[in-house]
Amino acid sequence: MYNSKITGLGFYVPDNIVTNDDLSKIMDTSDEWIQERTGIKERRWIKEGSNETSATMGAKAAETAIERAGLTTDDIDFIIFATLSPDYYFPGCGVQIQDMLGMKTVGALDVRNQCSGFVYAMSAADQFIKTGMYKNILVIGSEYHSNGLDKTTRGRGVSVIFGDGAGACVLSRTEDNNKGILSSHLHSEGRFADKLIVESPSIKHWVPEILNAEEEDVSYFPYMDGTFVFKNAVVRFSEVIMEALATNKMSPEDIDLFIPHQANLRIAQFIQQKFKLRNDQVYNNIMSYGNTTAASIVIALTEAWEKGKVKENDIVLLAAFGSGFTWGSLLMRW
Ligand code: COA
Repeated sequence: MYNSKITGLGFYVPDNIVTNDDLSKIMDTSDEWIQERTGIKERRWIKEGSNETSATMGAKAAETAIERAGLTTDDIDFIIFATLSPDYYFPGCGVQIQDMLGMKTVGALDVRNQCSGFVYAMSAADQFIKTGMYKNILVIGSEYHSNGLDKTTRGRGVSVIFGDGAGACVLSRTEDNNKGILSSHLHSEGRFADKLIVESPSIKHWVPEILNAEEEDVSYFPYMDGTFVFKNAVVRFSEVIMEALATNKMSPEDIDLFIPHQANLRIAQFIQQKFKLRNDQVYNNIMSYGNTTAASIVIALTEAWEKGKVKENDIVLLAAFGSGFTWGSLLMRW
């Protein structure tokens, strides 16, 4: 069996910065409320009229990751694309990447696991590499949230949290069994699907229902029971981190860098305190980008790597929780 390790990372966010004060001009909210509850100061939202989408942002992040891996698109054997905001209902964004980057007719798989999407995608990629089926897999997480948010006071509990952006990595075969992904752990609990959901449009709610939707029909916007999500997130994050540490016979002191899904700074801080992690063991950037769902971990990992915070042999832990509910963790030695 082979191991898989990250050989290239990249991210792309739209230029348009939207501050909390900008939001307070279009809805009843404030910088103080948003920062106190979420830690977010600003996020990127694709400008109206722009041609950017989840696929185009993903392609840009992917180009950087492939170049940094010292590879070309010809070396990529498979694409995995995680998003909850695909360009089309179908097909998925993965096939768009194959086309946009002018790649060979390699397979492309889309992952629909929301905030846990990147951890699920990496875990799937790891299995393909471990079995020897593929050598280099492009894993992308990308989200175009802003066009689908309720940007009125009615939607403020959700819309202030989410941002647009993409991150990508190349996961490559290594014959060094001490390096790369050591284990991944995936979970779901579908009975809470309605706690964080966009119900429509779906085949269940299709034309002509969409055309006849009333102004007050909010099923076309994300719904979140924030308090319930928060409570479940802290429990599941903790469990899945303990699972990763126990599997690898490690303790929190062994972690060199923990990158939690950037859901909410308060959740990340709760976890940090619970595991008694020092500030230098945790990397957060939700302050600048908001919650970018499937992109958040890989954007944060790329930024941390660019700042020199990930070094050879470091133990890096990723963990996520989100809609589904789904949650997961992944432990690697850099
Ligand atoms: N600005 C100002 N006020 C707001 C607001 C906003 N953006 N959003 C909600 N409010 C108001 C509510 O209307 C409510 O007012 P009321 O008391 O008059 O009814 C009040 O603030 C408290 O709302 P509540 O939803 O109870 O706040 P909260 O303390 O639970 O914080 C979240 C809301 C969303 C920040 C918090 O629940 C949370 O972070 N949850 C987890 C979210 C998450 O991580 N999601 C991603 C998972 S992957």
